Amino acid sequence: MDKPKVVLGVSGGIAAYKACELLRRLTESGHDVRVVPTASALHFVGAATWSALSGNPVSTEVWDDVHEVPHVRIGQHADLVIVAPATADTLAKAAHGLADDLLTNTLLTARCPVVFAPAMHTEMWEHPATQENVATLRRRGAVVIEPAVGRLTGVDTGKGRLPDPAEIFEVCRRVLARGVTEPDLKGRHVVVSAGGTREPLDPVRFLGNRSSGKQGYALARTAAARGARVTLIAANTGLPDPAGVDVVPVGTAVQLREAVLKASSDADAVVMAAAVADFRPATYAAGKIKKKDGEDPEPIVLVRNPDILAEISTDRARPGQVIVGFAAETDDVLANGRKKLERKGCDLLVVNEVGERKTFGSEENEAVVLGADGSETPIPHGPKEALAETVWDLVAPRLG
Ligand code: CTP
Repeated sequence: MDKPKVVLGVSGGIAAYKACELLRRLTESGHDVRVVPTASALHFVGAATWSALSGNPVSTEVWDDVHEVPHVRIGQHADLVIVAPATADTLAKAAHGLADDLLTNTLLTARCPVVFAPAMHTEMWEHPATQENVATLRRRGAVVIEPAVGRLTGVDTGKGRLPDPAEIFEVCRRVLARGVTEPDLKGRHVVVSAGGTREPLDPVRFLGNRSSGKQGYALARTAAARGARVTLIAANTGLPDPAGVDVVPVGTAVQLREAVLKASSDADAVVMAAAVADFRPATYAAGKIKKKDGEDPEPIVLVRNPDILAEISTDRARPGQVIVGFAAETDDVLANGRKKLERKGCDLLVVNEVGERKTFGSEENEAVVLGADGSETPIPHGPKEALAETVWDLVAPRLG
């Protein structure tokens, strides 16, 4: 079998050196990689490096080897184009269809899936021009990976780092395996709840839980990358907003319910990844509760919170709306999951085992997705993004 043909576009950012690691991973795993740097990229890493690591010729412009018509051929024959790092300039050119060098020509002629891994300073990433270009590229079917948060060039830190080459490689592998240029959630509205609700006792205290929100954010990011319009209802997460996602911050279960009901009225799918408190204090003390010498503390009386997942599952806002719940279980994980799926009435239930060091706050997750149709899909231990992708893989064919 022919090796899958990958075009690695490299644009001019300091993160170009990290693309060498991505290139190695691609070649070592059996891909035939043609590197197409921009002229600016060669200021950071020279053509000799790209050529030696890829085993293929390297050029930046359309005037080399004209008889081979490289500006058309490279894109036409590719199975995947990945641009890493993608600068603000390259994203803008791609969004507007400019073609002034070999990479931009390749992007216009490619009919395969295209992945962009942007890297730039936070201001450039957050600029409305860049955000609109990213939205345009996503709408057309490209996968635009969210930049990571951390140290940037010089003394700056923030959002804009090129994600770890290993992560980009994983995305490439998934996109290549799926092989679609028309993302399956394009044009869909999905609602994701994330984080953990906090139920206040007084102005300074609350009853809460240890959900970090990372799984819900991974679901939001991956859905956006698969073309969906995403509303992310975020309960006390403190995480940076994913680009291109509409974030609605909430505090309590009652606020979460209101936000979910509002957003889901026109949603194709709702995924309840948030850890919602089942109970809230019956009373809220307007002033801070004080300890009194010699007196026992007052017991905290709790009342039930609404079960949002059960409510939206029973009373669907739209016919054919797909509803996904999450269940965190400590014992009898599968049996309890089945019972919960029936009780809640949702279409899919992602069941994961939790414990002191499992799931909460970690970057990884492991689960079984139970379907109301009796299906059972195990998701092996891996990044929360991978779990998120599997959830959407299961949701997409169920959408009307
Ligand atoms: N959930 C909800 N509203 C609640 C409680 C939970 O919508 N008041 C949703 C969560 O977002 C999650 C699912 O229900 O998708 C499972 O929540 P979980 O707390 O594990 O289930 P419970 O019904 O509370 O069952 P138990 O506490 O008995 O395990």
